[in-house]
Amino acid sequence: MIDITHLHKTLDGQHVLKGVDLTIERGKTTAIIGSSGAGKSVLLKHIIGLLRPDSGKIVIDGIDTTSLNDRKWMELRKEKFGMLFQEGALFDSMNVFENIAFFLVQHTHLKKDAIKEKVQEKLKIVGLKGVESKMPSELSGGMKRRVALARAIIADPQILLLDEPTAGLDPVICASIIDLFKRTQERLGITFVMVTHNILSGFSIAQKVAMLHSGRIIATGTADEMKSSEDPVVQSFLKGVGFTG
Ligand SMILES: Nc1ncnc2c1ncn2[C@@H]1O[C@H](COP(=O)(O)OP(=O)(O)OP(=O)(O)O)[C@@H](O)[C@H]1O
Ligand SMILES: [Mg+2]
Repeated sequence: MIDITHLHKTLDGQHVLKGVDLTIERGKTTAIIGSSGAGKSVLLKHIIGLLRPDSGKIVIDGIDTTSLNDRKWMELRKEKFGMLFQEGALFDSMNVFENIAFFLVQHTHLKKDAIKEKVQEKLKIVGLKGVESKMPSELSGGMKRRVALARAIIADPQILLLDEPTAGLDPVICASIIDLFKRTQERLGITFVMVTHNILSGFSIAQKVAMLHSGRIIATGTADEMKSSEDPVVQSFLKGVGFTG
C-alpha cells in the first residue's frame, strides 16, 4: 500500500530522517516504535503529505507522490487518508455529531439525512450511543478517543494514521481502545499505521512492527521477532520502556 525508499529530511538544520526504507502492507496494522524525538511523527507527516521529503520517494497505492503538487496531494489525502492526532484533538466548540460530521459537511454534497446515517453508523462501530449532542468537555478521555476514531473513519479511509492514540489513558481504557482499533481494522479492512512508544499497545495490535532509530528503520518484524531480536539497540529500547518479555 505504501512504499517508502531512502527518505531524507532535515528540519532546522537537524538531519531527522536519514534514509528511511519501509513498506506498509495493505489491510494490516504497522506500528512504528522508537524513542522520543526519533522522528516518528515527522515520518507520519511525510506519509500524509504534510511534510515533503528532501530526497527519497513515497509511493502510495501505486502513485509516486514525489511529483504531486499541493492540490493533488490534498485530493489524495481526502480520498485515501484518515488521521487520528495525539490527544484526539476534537473541536471544543462543536458537539459530538458536528465533530464527526465535519469532513462530510465540508467536503461532500451529502444530504443531512445521509450524513446523519453515516455518523450513526460510525458511532455504532466505536460503541457509543446517545452522545451526539454532548460537548467534548463533557466526555471522558476514553470517550473522546472513541469520538476521534469515529471522526477519523467517517469518510471510509483506506489508510488510517494514528499518532500516539493511547497517550495519557489509564491502562484499562488503553486496552479497550486498542481492542477497538483492532476490531475496527479487521471489520473495515483499513491499512493502519500507528506511531507509539507504548510498546504493549504496539505489540498487541500490529502485524508488523518497525523501529525507527537514528533516522533509519533499523528493524522490522512481528512482535515476537522484535522481542527475540539480537539487535542490541532493539533490546535496550524494549528494556528501557519496561518491556521485559
Ligand atoms: N516542524 C519542525 N521543525 C523543526 N524541527 C522539527 C519539526 N518537527 C519535528 N522536529 C524535530 O524533529 C525531531 C523528531 O521529532 P518527532 O516529533 O518526529 O519525534 P517523535 O519520534 O514523534 O517523538 P515523540 O515520541 O516524543 O512524539 C525532533 O528533534 C524535533 O525537534
Ligand atoms: Mg511524536
